[in-house]
Amino acid sequence: MELTLAITGASGAIYAYRTLLRLIAHKEVERVNLIMSDAACIVARVELGVDLREGGDAKAINDWLGLDANSKRVRVHRIKNLAAPPASGSHLQAGMIIAPCSMGTLGAIASGAGYNLIHRAADVTLKEGRKLIIVPREAPYNQIHLENMLRLSNAGARIIPASPSFYHRPNTIDELVDHLVFRILDQFGLGKAQASRWGQESGGGGQQE
Ligand SMILES: Cc1cc2nc3c(=O)[nH]c(=O)nc-3n(C[C@H](O)[C@H](O)[C@H](O)COP(=O)(O)O)c2cc1C
Repeated sequence: MELTLAITGASGAIYAYRTLLRLIAHKEVERVNLIMSDAACIVARVELGVDLREGGDAKAINDWLGLDANSKRVRVHRIKNLAAPPASGSHLQAGMIIAPCSMGTLGAIASGAGYNLIHRAADVTLKEGRKLIIVPREAPYNQIHLENMLRLSNAGARIIPASPSFYHRPNTIDELVDHLVFRILDQFGLGKAQASRWGQESGGGGQQE
């Protein structure tokens, strides 16, 4: 399986980091196309103290993920490179995740007037009828944000807000974040088999989230 992960400049760089870790932990995920906005690199520096260089640098990304320096599992594409594989519908892949997704990127995709590789790849994912998972983060949402989310949902995107749940009683931030990451990966059939699911190990009464 191949898919694209885009990281934008919304708060929640840890969602991107742990999604990447979980994706590369799956043998069936042969390739992750990674696209980072410049703002994403700023937020990663602020929130995680990591310097990924502007636009993401392959070596810095491999170091960050604990991969060999020459690993090709994660292929970094420059956000200005509109000729990169995810920009074309003829390039086959399972879909795309945008986590976290800023309101700026959300609006550009919802308007259909995208201008960078993240916008283009998302547009292509929708037009090809592939899975587009958007993890928006802002508080509070204004009417424009909400309308853009509805527009994208109507166009086929799946909106998974960066609003973690607590019913699985997380003890750490990583556990809190990972539960949302599993919900993202579930969309591609990659959710951890033993992920805490209501009605299973929690012993719940069959209620759904
Ligand atoms: C530390 C930090 C946190 C931010 N958090 C958010 C956020 O949660 N949601 C959002 O929409 N924008 C947030 N922003 C603003 C975006 O980074 C900004 O709008 C940027 O232009 C988005 O560009 P991009 O969509 O190309 O990444 C944040 C910026 C910084 C520096």
